[in-house]
Amino acid sequence: AFGQITSQFMDILGTAIGYVPGCKYTSLVLYVASDCLEAGTNIISKHIEQIREVERQIDEALGNKEPVNNWEELEESIKKCNKCKLYSTRQNIVFGVGNKNARLMFIGEGPGADEDRLGEPFVGRAGQLMNKAMAFEAIGLKREEVYIANIVKCRPPNNRNPEEDECEACMNYLRNQVILVKPEIIVLLGSVALKHILGKEYGITASRGKWVEKKEILYMPTWHPAALLRDENKKIDFWKDLKLVKQKADEMKIEI
Ligand code: URA
Repeated sequence: AFGQITSQFMDILGTAIGYVPGCKYTSLVLYVASDCLEAGTNIISKHIEQIREVERQIDEALGNKEPVNNWEELEESIKKCNKCKLYSTRQNIVFGVGNKNARLMFIGEGPGADEDRLGEPFVGRAGQLMNKAMAFEAIGLKREEVYIANIVKCRPPNNRNPEEDECEACMNYLRNQVILVKPEIIVLLGSVALKHILGKEYGITASRGKWVEKKEILYMPTWHPAALLRDENKKIDFWKDLKLVKQKADEMKIEI
């Protein structure tokens, strides 16, 4: 099984020594490659993606698939997760909330202090504002009828943006959630969600309010609700974008 990945091991040899947060196979990588490693080299963050890819390939080769058929197993594996440094400062993981069969899903960035304390996404000030906009009569999206999740499941300290390695380590959990929910529409809340789901080439200012279709899912990027707290003018955009979502849901006969 390792034959196919040897060249990738070779690529990362120079950087595989040191600390890869939560990498299950660090010792395996070191063992397999030990004769070629240069002692003392530290992992640089840009190599983490490569190492994750190797980790994914090893999992695939060994048949260790992340659980995708079962919500309980998925939640349990996130509760035990220590794949990135955020695990050490979290109070609670913030898994996701709402209708697990929803045809409409919302994806945010990561938990804040209130979410970390309560273990539920979008319950702080930004979340309350989002709930209000969703519940507004002309839109009428019910929070409990959609599914809401985040790119990262643990709170980044001091409400900073999640870092690249943290998003990367957590993305498989979100992919699993999307596979389980099978949404037809996904609302991307803010730049972090947009860039990690549709690609780094997308910018939120240019993309918001415009549908993007990818792999049979319709995506609507919009402002992150926290941005509305900082800039009142964004509220009207957010409201317009949610209205587009509601119109599309009506066209698709999605009952919310
Ligand atoms: N911001 C997010 O992106 N997600 C939350 O759950 C709360 C605030």
